[in-house]
Order: sequence, then C-alpha cells, then structure tokens
Amino acid sequence: MSGGDNDVVLIKGNKRLDGRGFDELRDIKMEVSVLERAEGSAYIEWGKNRVIVGVYGPRELHPKFLQDPTRAMLRCVYNLAPFSVDERKKPGPDRRSVEISKVCAEALSSVVMLERFPNTVIDVYVEVLQADAGTRCAGLTAASLALADAGIPMKDLVAACSAGKVQGQIVVDLMKEEDNFGQCDLPMAIIPRKSEVVLLQMDGKLSRDEFKQAYKMAVDGCMKVYEMQKNTLLGSMNKFVGVEGGVENGD
Ligand code: CDP
Repeated sequence: MSGGDNDVVLIKGNKRLDGRGFDELRDIKMEVSVLERAEGSAYIEWGKNRVIVGVYGPRELHPKFLQDPTRAMLRCVYNLAPFSVDERKKPGPDRRSVEISKVCAEALSSVVMLERFPNTVIDVYVEVLQADAGTRCAGLTAASLALADAGIPMKDLVAACSAGKVQGQIVVDLMKEEDNFGQCDLPMAIIPRKSEVVLLQMDGKLSRDEFKQAYKMAVDGCMKVYEMQKNTLLGSMNKFVGVEGGVENGD
C-alpha cells in the first residue's frame, strides 16, 4: 500500500483494471481433502492467488509444559513460498509472516471448540504458492475449510474478504496492483452465524464514512465466500456418501 499513486490508472469508467465492478469479487475456486497425510486440507484459487492448507492434529502437545489441561492450542504457520511473488522472497519466516500467522491463529481459535481437546495441539499450515494480494483472506478461508475437513468441531466457519480504497473509490477484494498503488486495504474475517468480526486490519487511511462503506463491502464479500465454503463442504460430503447433484448414486 503506497498511500495512493496518482500516475497509475486503476479505474476507468466504472470498471477496475481486470474488468471487475466495484463490488465484484475475483473468481474463487475451493476444494477440500487435497492432501493424503493431513487430517484435513483445502486448496483455494482466489484470482491469481493459489493457497494450500494442511491441518494436523489434535495431537499431544510437546514439550509437555506447554500443555493446557482445559483446552487445545491452535498454531498457525503462514508461509509465502519464495517463488510465489515477482521478486523472489527469502525462504523462512519474516515479520510479515509471523504477524499473519498470529492473526490467523487468533481468528481460527475463536471458532474451533478447543476445550474438547485438552493437552493437545492443532497445527494449521498455510502455504501460499502464488500471491496476488489478499493471501491472508484466502489462507484463512481455506484454513477453516481444512479444519472442517479434518472433522474438528467448530461453532461455524471463518469467512474472509478484504475491501479498500482505490483511486478514491471503495472497492471489494483488492488485487495486487490495487493493493500496491491504492490508498487503503481493509482485510476482514467474520464468523457469519454470529456476525462477529475475528480479523480486521487496515493498511492506509479512510474517513469514517469510507470506513463504514468498506466495512459493509467486506462483510458482504465474506458472506459470498461463506456460501462458497458451505457448497464446497456439501459437495465433498455428497461425494463421500455417493450422492451426485442431490440424487443418490446407486454404484
Ligand atoms: O497478501 P495480503 O494482502 O494478505 O498481504 P499484504 O502484506 O498486504 O501483501 C499484499 C501482496 O503483496 C501479497 O499478496 C503479494 O502479492 C505481495 N508481496 C510480495 O510481492 N512480496 C512480499 N515479500 C510480500 C508480499
């Protein structure tokens, strides 16, 4: 986020660089059970973002002094692959990935019924294979699918989406050029059933009215993502029990 670059044209008429309207999300595809050795997994394509998530556990937490007899610990590791961005990223954790791992773990901890698994740890690995802005939202969305895929009891899914300001206009789901040269990015995640916000970060500046508008756009985006998540899980369940398109498959 540069604070707004006036030389870069991001909006022409009522369309954005990639032809989207202001309230339009990028194309999103989701899939679960994509990894054999993980308890649960998910893969998401969100615009040009490609993110895979593996969930391991609940398993006994070591070293033992970290164990909590009242609840499980949920750990999250967000990793941007060196080849996922234009300018090769140095492998390993950095300030940004530590921050994103922390906010994702906190958001997911608010839906997982951790008290059901005392003394254990649930590990969530978010691997970004290709990045084009909004990777924390894509990662969180896929992570909650992977947790559900692992059969870990949850109060609801976490659905995420960002909104922001580009060339003075409030838009949803910023892509990389908009993130780089826009004026503000507001990634959010919610627990849809409780209308509870579990992640809200802001990079840039918005007036009070702009914030209200962006907040609403991000929540509307989260609700669209939530519908896709539910359909993905339902599709995977139907495949498992041999139901195709609502009709029982005899073989
Ligand atoms: O990805 P997200 O929007 O959640 O996080 P960000 O820190 O706002 O990063 C925005 C985008 O910048 C990423 O999605 C990448 O496309 C890009 N980026 C990069 O090119 N190199 C990095 N070391 C970090 C981010």
